[in-house]
Amino acid sequence: MKYVFGNWKMNLGIRESVALARGVARSLRGKESVPEVAVFPAFTALSEVHKALSRSRVQLGAQNIGVEKSGAYTGEVSSSMLEDVGCSYALIGHSERRWKFAESDELIADRLKACLASKVTPVLCVGESVAEREDGSHEEFVTGQMKSALSDIDVSNASDLIVAYEPVWAIGTGETATVAQVVEMHTHIRSTLQSILEMNAEEFSILYGGSVNPENAYELLREREIGGVLVGGASLKIHAFQDILEAATEVITAQGA
Ligand code: 13P
Repeated sequence: MKYVFGNWKMNLGIRESVALARGVARSLRGKESVPEVAVFPAFTALSEVHKALSRSRVQLGAQNIGVEKSGAYTGEVSSSMLEDVGCSYALIGHSERRWKFAESDELIADRLKACLASKVTPVLCVGESVAEREDGSHEEFVTGQMKSALSDIDVSNASDLIVAYEPVWAIGTGETATVAQVVEMHTHIRSTLQSILEMNAEEFSILYGGSVNPENAYELLREREIGGVLVGGASLKIHAFQDILEAATEVITAQGA
């Protein structure tokens, strides 16, 4: 199984979101082996995009998830609200939340717990900034992010949790990590999962995000260690996203995965 997720970030109104979602759904129609595809629109578009995707294989995701179920938490959207609107996935700890909105490791751990207690599958985002990459502490840094998010949680199945490795220096910069860098970090993330969760981590899907585009998607996706891609900018352009979906389909067909 390969995952192709499109994080639309703070882009597109309701009408444009529905049109893009329909385009994504159309590109999977009639195909036998397709990746698991989800789009992550802004909260304001979730309801209409859900309707537009109702008879398709495309899943819906949210870009964040609240800790509490309801109450005086202005600006938050709870897991039950996301279930209600038809979300299957939620991003947690995206670097833009961590750096631009000062979300702490502690808050991210609480969001993850709330998500795991719901029917929404968490996509936990981790990744170092350029400083850690340059001084060589990137693995240690990602281990720290994972320990604080995962040390106090219960995961019984590998399908309950997806991890996305998104190095901050590769997001929106056009600078993709090399396949070797991604594979090395994914291997590290897998062994960290194994030691924190004390379970076999073979089956966990670890996605890569950071300037994924139609030119680099195939070489990333064909690696067994790379479970899929979390696409930002290129997921807003239907032709680019379709090409990435096509690359994933080719890999699945070639590998029988
Ligand atoms: P870009 O693909 O625009 O680099 O964004 C990646 C990302 O942040 C996905 O969550």
